[in-house]
Amino acid sequence: MDVNKIVARYPAEMDNLLNILHALQDAHPLNFLPEENLKVVARYLNTTLSSVYGVVNYYTMLSTKPRGRHIIRLCHSPVCHLMGIGSVQEYLQKHLGVALNEPTPDGMFWVELSECLGICDVAPAMTIDHEPYGYLTEDDIVKIISEIREKDRSAKPDQPADE
Ligand code: FES
Repeated sequence: MDVNKIVARYPAEMDNLLNILHALQDAHPLNFLPEENLKVVARYLNTTLSSVYGVVNYYTMLSTKPRGRHIIRLCHSPVCHLMGIGSVQEYLQKHLGVALNEPTPDGMFWVELSECLGICDVAPAMTIDHEPYGYLTEDDIVKIISEIREKDRSAKPDQPADE
C-alpha cells in the first residue's frame, strides 16, 4: 500500500484526520495503523504525532495493533443480546477457533465486540469490514465465512490492497 498516495486523496486539513485514518487502516492487510503511517499523517496535516495518537486511541474502531484481514464486529447492545447474539458469538468463535480480540492463526479474521451498529431492526447483527449482516443464525455464519474465504482464494494474489 502507498501511504502517501492514500493520504494525498484528502485535502491537508485537520477535519479530514478521521477519514484519512480510516482509509489507511482499511488499506492495510492487517487492518491497523502502524506508527510509521501515523507519522506520515502528522506531517501531512502539520500536527503532532501525539495529537494523531489522541484521536486513534479515542476511537475503538481504530487500532495500533495488527488485527486480521477481515474485521468481524458483533453487536453486544441490548436488542442484539435479546435476539441471541451471545450464541452466535459462541458459535462463530468455535467455528473460527479464535478468542475475542485475537487474529485467527491464518491471520484471516479478527472478532471483536461492538456497541449498537445501528441495524437493530435486523438483530442479531454484525459487520464484516463495514458490511452489515443481520438475522444471524449458525448456518449463516458458516455460509458467510466460507464465502469470504472463497472470495479471498479467487482474488488475484498481486492485487494492491489500496487500489
Ligand atoms: S442493538 Fe445490535 S445493532 Fe443495535
